[in-house]
Amino acid sequence: MQEKFILNNGVEMPKIGYGVFRMTDLKACEEAVIQAIKTGYRLIDTAAAYANEVAVGQAVKKCGLDRKELFITTKLWITDTSYEGAKRGFARSMEKLGLDYVDLYLIHQPYNDYYGAWRALEELYAAGKVRAIGVDNFTQDKLADFVYWNKVKPAVNFVECNPFYQREAERTYMENKDIVMQAWSPLAAGQADFLANATLQTIAAAHEKSVAQVALRWQVQRGVVPIVKSANAQRMADNLNIFDFALTDAEMQEISKLDTGHTCFAPRQTGVAVEEFLENAKLYEL
Ligand SMILES: NC(=O)c1ccc[n+]([C@@H]2O[C@H](COP(=O)([O-])OP(=O)(O)OC[C@H]3O[C@@H](n4cnc5c(N)ncnc54)[C@H](OP(=O)(O)O)[C@@H]3O)[C@@H](O)[C@H]2O)c1
Repeated sequence: MQEKFILNNGVEMPKIGYGVFRMTDLKACEEAVIQAIKTGYRLIDTAAAYANEVAVGQAVKKCGLDRKELFITTKLWITDTSYEGAKRGFARSMEKLGLDYVDLYLIHQPYNDYYGAWRALEELYAAGKVRAIGVDNFTQDKLADFVYWNKVKPAVNFVECNPFYQREAERTYMENKDIVMQAWSPLAAGQADFLANATLQTIAAAHEKSVAQVALRWQVQRGVVPIVKSANAQRMADNLNIFDFALTDAEMQEISKLDTGHTCFAPRQTGVAVEEFLENAKLYEL
């Protein structure tokens, strides 16, 4: 049985989740989600921008579990990030998912009118259409301002995080604010230098576990919820098999030394990089 975290509104969330980013073949995505649920995952992470909410909805219907046993997250895309846009985007996502409610609804990126969008999310939350609301990719300064001005505090902030990009100060800040940090690309998207890292390999060998299992266990031990993707049934099962061992304090310390302090992907800190990203965001077919 998987352990759970309690969100700041009392809702329980599994300590690990299964993500479906880049799974654009709908049949393959549906089968993978059914397999993931069969394997034991209960949190499934999709997004309007992933173009596979239909497949996730079908998998939820066909998996044989009661809806209440699952925790489904979806996300509002940038082009819908405004008060009216959020209502429209949520309605579209629900139609694609074919569900009555989602467990967690996130603002996918801190661009466009995310304060206006939050008003709409607060209304959806009050109406019981979503069990919890949160944000995604908010840096600490944006999150602080957001929490300061809003009535409902985000339950979750979902950010890139793995042993190469640890974000410990942000994690501490979120913990102090009672906001759960979720980690995307917890295996650095499977990059070869990550899976071959000597420190992680040594710790993995000591526990007869894999590098992936050590990286995921490290997150859970620091109170972070990793959302991991695998299309392979064996790796899917391995990634979930992290609740029968614990890293020692010394091992946690060793892993903390691997932090580079920067993203494993293309940084988006300049105005030009953001403009390019936003232009690309407009091309998504929702
Ligand atoms: N909110 C956001 O902005 C955002 C951004 C990115 C991702 N996400 C979410 O986070 C999820 C996970 O992130 P991600 O897909 O980028 O990266 P990830 O989970 O860190 O890595 C996935 C990659 O690692 C491989 N892999 C999985 N388990 C493995 C294992 N045990 N050993 C070796 N290789 C393994 C997978 O290949 P196989 O499939 O072949 O196993 C895949 O290529 C996404 O699916 C999505 O739900 C959110």
